[in-house]
Amino acid sequence: MSEIVKELLYTGKAKDVYKTGNEDEVIIKFRDDITALDGGRKDTLSKKGEYNALISAKLFEILEEHGVSTQYIRLVEPNEMLTKSLEMIPLEVICRNIATGSLLRKYPFHKNQRLDPPVIQFDYKNDVYHDPMLNDSIITALKIATQEELDKIREITHVINKVLYKFLNECGLILVDFKIEFGFDKEGNIVLGDEISPDTTRLWDIETHDNFDKDIFRKGEKGVVDAYHRVVDLVLTAEEKEKWNVEKIEM
Ligand code: C5P
Repeated sequence: MSEIVKELLYTGKAKDVYKTGNEDEVIIKFRDDITALDGGRKDTLSKKGEYNALISAKLFEILEEHGVSTQYIRLVEPNEMLTKSLEMIPLEVICRNIATGSLLRKYPFHKNQRLDPPVIQFDYKNDVYHDPMLNDSIITALKIATQEELDKIREITHVINKVLYKFLNECGLILVDFKIEFGFDKEGNIVLGDEISPDTTRLWDIETHDNFDKDIFRKGEKGVVDAYHRVVDLVLTAEEKEKWNVEKIEM
């Protein structure tokens, strides 16, 4: 653990949040725990936390370069991210470019149907209610966000999708769908927080459509960490991999 980590503030399903010496900054520590099926499947997979932190850091850096405001400051360890402290909005903002997953279980889309424009949906981040899907009217009635804030979140999500789709495509991956979370910084700005990793996105190989994401774990198959390692290998530069001692992939 790095020296700037102080007391534990919050523990989630796969990450812990720690105080630092600066009240405007927190450390997010990515653990090796993985869960799926509403907590029904759990495991601990060595290196998973590190790979997710490295991928999230890289994607946040790309987004910042394109003018998207994120919580990310820098990595202090391969699995510890120094971030701005945010007051999180309890919404899971899901953006989909291809119809798969729960969209196919709930609605009559064709399997792998291209969604253009992308579909954006809001789920309530609430374990007691099992993350139900919300609409604008319920969100504003529950005072989770104002209509103006929601419009802003939609607008930023479209930008994030465009930027990451292009970047990941150039790395040989299709960004099928993803979940992101936002919060307010101390000035009241809406800022992207949390993580963007194979735990929270679906990433397919451009050629084979093999998936390199948590769907492997959801299906109960082996090779989750190898797939996440492959994503690290594809998205980080050679210098970044050397800096964080990422093992080479044996071909
Ligand atoms: O399961 P579903 O098809 O609704 O998931 C859509 C996207 O949102 C997937 O990339 C999935 O990994 C992500 N997601 C998530 N956390 C959840 C629900 C979905 O990261 N609680």
